Amino acid sequence: MPANPSSALADPRAEPWRDTLAGRYARVRAHSVALSAPLSAEDQCVQSMPDASPTKWHLAHTSWFFEAVVLAAHAPAWQPFDSRFFHLFNSYYESLGSRHPRPQRGMLTRPGLAEVHAYREHVDGAMQRFIAEAAPAAWEAAAPLVELGLNHEQQHQELMLTDILHAFWRNPLLPAHQDRGPAPRLAAAPTPLNWLEMPGGIVQAGAAGEGFAFDNETPRHRVLLAPYRIADRLVTCGEYEQFIADGGYECPSLWLSDGWAAVQSGGWTAPLYWISPGDARAPSDHWQVFGLNGVRPLAPAAPVSQLSFYEAAAYAEWAGARLPTEFEWEAAYGAGGISQVTGHVWQWTRSSYDPYPGFRPLAGAVGEYNGKFMVGQMVLRGGSSATPAGHTRPTYRNFFPPAARWQFSGLRLARDGSC
Ligand SMILES: [Fe+2]
Repeated sequence: MPANPSSALADPRAEPWRDTLAGRYARVRAHSVALSAPLSAEDQCVQSMPDASPTKWHLAHTSWFFEAVVLAAHAPAWQPFDSRFFHLFNSYYESLGSRHPRPQRGMLTRPGLAEVHAYREHVDGAMQRFIAEAAPAAWEAAAPLVELGLNHEQQHQELMLTDILHAFWRNPLLPAHQDRGPAPRLAAAPTPLNWLEMPGGIVQAGAAGEGFAFDNETPRHRVLLAPYRIADRLVTCGEYEQFIADGGYECPSLWLSDGWAAVQSGGWTAPLYWISPGDARAPSDHWQVFGLNGVRPLAPAAPVSQLSFYEAAAYAEWAGARLPTEFEWEAAYGAGGISQVTGHVWQWTRSSYDPYPGFRPLAGAVGEYNGKFMVGQMVLRGGSSATPAGHTRPTYRNFFPPAARWQFSGLRLARDGSC
């Protein structure tokens, strides 16, 4: 949601603006369907762990969001496709009624996939009519919610990929989501790591109110930074392999206490989707990495991915460095000079996911979108290869619990500077 919706919607009633949003709505919704197209109906129903959701559930839930937040609240003539879906596909909105337990989403063999697609089409038709025909007062109230719904759907598009990747990881056949050919980064030569000197001082952080931003990016505020240095590129698989070879997963002094407990309880010895030499699932003499393209040889120059915060922090300790705070990351982005800021992996920061000074959740049900999750999670910045084009921005705050390692998450190093 924009910090100030009126700033993003100069004239919500303007017909050209409605046309623009209608076109964007169609493109974003179609992209979700395209991402699911390579998958079988069986693929789309499976739930590999409580934190991950079936593809079919993502397709339905993103439709539910438009239905529950926009149509049911602002379109008087709205008729639900199936009123039971309000319960099935509510994720976590207490103010919008009951919901199906998250760990049991994989039990929803019904509605079938074809019915979920019919549900999407029903919602899409109603949404396009609403965008075109809503009375000015209703449109002014609902337009920011339509924009929020599109950004919400884009977030779920990345989750569709990370969740099906986890499901495929648990399948002994290790199938590919879609063979897109070699990623460009596979051919990239390793580049030397350079340190960007940052002077610190008082900097501005957060969204300035120009264009869409989630409420958790606001308000823009001042932050005091000590001088620091930040790596101009991400940590690579080749570098992380050295950490493993040096006994990184066997040395408790490198790890936070909770991280070391996670290493031991989870049997962690490498990033989640690394396949060690000799592993019977995909025999090879070398490390391999499982991804959306299936099993590929480890690419030493590629950014390391599928790391938890704990692993990122331990690697940084081993490397004689630390993780940047989210504010250091944002200031470095603004200064230029760092590469791989987006399009590869989300980058763990040393910042807890906390409200910015003066943060206020949005009014109504969408006040539950971000604010109530601001405890026990860490902020990631940037964007990944699975993030939809145009979805991220320098002030974007992604967040996950520190043990989460099924996302496209890696790290960039930082060090203290001289005062
Ligand atoms: Fe959601």
